[in-house]
Amino acid sequence: MTWLKVPALRDVLVMMNGYYSIFTVNPLSGSRKMRRKIYQTGGLYFLLIWLAGCSHGTRIGQPFMTVPHPGKYQLAYYTPSQEHPVYSIATVDGRKFYVKDDVVMPSAQSMYLLSHWVLHEGETVLDMGTGSGVQAVFAADKASHVLATDINPAAVEMAKFNAEKNGVGDRVEVRKSDLFSAIGKNEKFDVILFNIDYPHNEATQGLWKLHERFFAQVKDHLNPNGRLYYQSGRIENIARIDEMVRNNGMSIISMRMDAALEVDKQPIVFLIKRNEDLQIKPDAWGGG
Ligand SMILES: C[S@@+](CC[C@H](N)C(=O)[O-])C[C@H]1O[C@@H](n2cnc3c(N)ncnc32)[C@H](O)[C@@H]1O
Repeated sequence: MTWLKVPALRDVLVMMNGYYSIFTVNPLSGSRKMRRKIYQTGGLYFLLIWLAGCSHGTRIGQPFMTVPHPGKYQLAYYTPSQEHPVYSIATVDGRKFYVKDDVVMPSAQSMYLLSHWVLHEGETVLDMGTGSGVQAVFAADKASHVLATDINPAAVEMAKFNAEKNGVGDRVEVRKSDLFSAIGKNEKFDVILFNIDYPHNEATQGLWKLHERFFAQVKDHLNPNGRLYYQSGRIENIARIDEMVRNNGMSIISMRMDAALEVDKQPIVFLIKRNEDLQIKPDAWGGG
């Protein structure tokens, strides 16, 4: 009768930490109103977690939520483990990704990007805004070298940790960088992955500046015939994105947007190439 089990106080504290980071950091987990309530009602929150532990027999290191999304990978969130009690855990097709503090959990949007980039054996990859390192770790299956960057030092730490834990630490280099600030002028890549927050409501319009900064520099870091998989979203943003791309000597080759009306913030994955490479037949969508 697992529902009668009362979780130990330590387990509840560990679970609270895990649920807290997921509810507060992952925009998919609960509405804004719900999250505000969680902030405001610490005591009630504690009680609810305790009750959740009683009713589900929840113990640390257990799955508690499978995240629905239209991508091809399976994403689940776990309560923290005994081994690393301060980290929340997500699994992507069984691979574990640990996060702490304000590091972004792999989300439905992450899965959408992950499902749509194509990589060939031995290519080099830049994963910009790596967060937990989820794109970088999967890229390392085929890439000869992956550079994963993030502006958030906690994300840099977690991406390193997750690359090691997933056995690809030798192929994933992680660096703290504000966009290209810590990337050398001559560092170029076959594939660049970009999944950084984009403007999706009135309050986030300031993010356009960051995306403009990105497009002003990205072309110089692509190898000949290189590909940029850029995740952004909101159908109404497409025209402005296309303008930024064209103003910087590149073209949108294709867009995947079948999830736009189903998933929060309407994710769209753009495949973008430099104009000088357009004579070469794009080979990315569908594996070439
Ligand atoms: C939406 S998360 C995506 C994480 C991960 N790529 C994924 O697919 O799950 C965006 C990440 O971009 C990082 N970021 C935000 N602004 C940045 C900047 N100016 N330069 C580098 N990284 C940035 C954030 O810290 C965060 O980890």
